[in-house]
Amino acid sequence: MSKLSQSIATEDSQSLRTFLAGLSPEEILHLKVRRTDFLMSALVQELEDRKEYPVVELTDPDTGSVCVANVFAERGRLRRTIHHITDVEQASADFSSFAEVQDAPVQACAATGEEVDVLSLPIFRHFAEDAGRYITSGIVLAKDPDTGRYNMSFHRMQLKEKNRIGISLHSRGDLYRYFEKAKAAGRDLEIAVVIGAHPAYYITGASKIPESMDDYSWAGAYMDEVPQVVRAKTVDLMVPAQAEYCLEGRILADTFEDEGPFGEYTGYSTSRSTRNVFEVTAITHRKDAIYHDLVPGYAWEHLLLSQFTKEIILLDKLKKEVPEVRALSMPKNGCHFHAYVSMKPRARGQAKQVAMLLFGLDLYLKMIVVVNDDVDVFNEEEVLWAMATHVQADRDVFIVPQVLCNRLDPSSVDGMSAKMGIDATGSGEEEAKRVFLPEEVKREAERLLS
Ligand SMILES: Cc1cc2nc3c(=O)[nH]c(=O)nc-3n(C[C@H](O)[C@H](O)[C@H](O)COP(=O)(O)O)c2cc1C
Repeated sequence: MSKLSQSIATEDSQSLRTFLAGLSPEEILHLKVRRTDFLMSALVQELEDRKEYPVVELTDPDTGSVCVANVFAERGRLRRTIHHITDVEQASADFSSFAEVQDAPVQACAATGEEVDVLSLPIFRHFAEDAGRYITSGIVLAKDPDTGRYNMSFHRMQLKEKNRIGISLHSRGDLYRYFEKAKAAGRDLEIAVVIGAHPAYYITGASKIPESMDDYSWAGAYMDEVPQVVRAKTVDLMVPAQAEYCLEGRILADTFEDEGPFGEYTGYSTSRSTRNVFEVTAITHRKDAIYHDLVPGYAWEHLLLSQFTKEIILLDKLKKEVPEVRALSMPKNGCHFHAYVSMKPRARGQAKQVAMLLFGLDLYLKMIVVVNDDVDVFNEEEVLWAMATHVQADRDVFIVPQVLCNRLDPSSVDGMSAKMGIDATGSGEEEAKRVFLPEEVKREAERLLS
């Protein structure tokens, strides 16, 4: 624990509320309004239509209880919050443990046994097609039954009864594997669901982390602090001490029930689910707990949380193989299926090599556009301009049919789709020279117009 001495957590430095308190006034929209079904989704959708991405905070005029959404709907907000890490594996090796505390804010209030009632929590129904009210921002903590290593991941959770929640493990990541191991041993899988925590936990939960690494070490590295944890009340798990809510319980080994339909990130409703059941044994929370509602469906917070780390990790891997690669972005409208890459090609055909490499690294992708390094991949207008002026389809587009893909793509067939790579670097045929303005004149124009 080389970092322990320099990374002692201050009071509430690992909480969602400290993050919210640090936002500038224009980054947060306060509304005093009674919570109703669909309201949060409609507010976030309207803001997105206006290209505005503030945190939305609803305060109930009767009870004073607070609910937030759109918290991570902005790249800059995420970048500012987490500690900048250049080598994630080394950084997380520095945080290979956690610090146990006794009186944790997340356990200020507790309900166990017959007192458990998830239906009483301020949970929304999000879309007309949804099967019911869903927890959408729950970070599911579980331990690998073989190694004891912690994993964190997001899963949609449908409220069913006071102590019963439908949960889907359809992305078949680590939690699905842990569940399969527990089931094979004839046991339920103990889990804890954290709602409202330091952004580092959200980013860790949304990232595909190598199975050899403990997710607490990633969260610690992103906070640059040793995670403060407390022992859960009814399961053998340590949970973030400064969280807002924590639901404890187990995924039942031998019970499966319909779950869904639910609005997924593609903007389409789907009943595709592993149909698992989460039996809740305890609910603990802060005295004035803030509920985080992550608006699902085709909403930027839902997409960006996953894409934020994907962009970093995939760029890192590409650069290791092809140093000429400069930047990578996944646009919102590609809903995990499209990526734009910029590079300074060294030779003809290198852009296509980069596209093929990237297809191999991420099975969700089905269209990749590679552009020159003078194009800003975060500005789609520039990417489309590069396509208009550099691409000849017979020469620059390649299609690989029938490749494994993400099944939530409504246009995929039997879990397969075609992969399309587009070389928009115009490799080699550059007689045309792009026009540029002198930097000092651009600055003068900026000054005159400001
Ligand atoms: C907001 C959000 C919701 C998600 N919902 C689900 C879900 O309902 N079911 C699922 O299996 N995966 C879901 N995922 C994907 C996993 O949480 C994600 O792939 C995670 O990185 C899994 O990582 P792991 O395999 O390292 O555990 C969701 C991700 C996000 C960011």
